[in-house]
Amino acid sequence: MKKQIYTIEIKSFVVEELNDAEKHLLERAQKASAMAFAPYSAFLVGCAVLLENGEILTGNNQENASFPAGLCAERVALAYANATYPDVSVQAVCIVAQLHGTFTAVPLSPCGICRQTLLECENRFGKPIRLYMAGKDTVLQVDSVKDILPLHFDNQYLLDTLTE
Ligand code: THU
Repeated sequence: MKKQIYTIEIKSFVVEELNDAEKHLLERAQKASAMAFAPYSAFLVGCAVLLENGEILTGNNQENASFPAGLCAERVALAYANATYPDVSVQAVCIVAQLHGTFTAVPLSPCGICRQTLLECENRFGKPIRLYMAGKDTVLQVDSVKDILPLHFDNQYLLDTLTE
């Protein structure tokens, strides 16, 4: 038996430590969260996507009375960004959530499906995405989505070469 140990680097900032561009990205995510459609959970999530061309596109969660039809903020924002600029890579993503009018104290960690979607976006453009997971006062940051999705599934499995 062999063991594999994964080590990931997670930077932790207090909001004041972020640079102006990072603060701006966070503010865009916060503003987007206020426009979420989340009548069932009351958990309002905002996501801001910074593209290589400097543009920031945002999204928020869109719930549905048929619960599984709902979409997370990350997937709404990424689909919007990729549909608008299919050839422009994603440089950074910031996510944040509020409950009962207050941003969560604990930084928002993306759900599994959104991690997978973020990973596809990273692979699609061949560039790592800097991910900011924000709480009210604390922001966690990783340099790549792969850091938070070890042993991931991706398109490599769909290549014949792997089964030979
Ligand atoms: N949600 C997101 O938008 N992103 C996440 O990463 C976690 C969960 C949404 C889905 C649902 O509308 C609400 O938060 C409660 O789960």
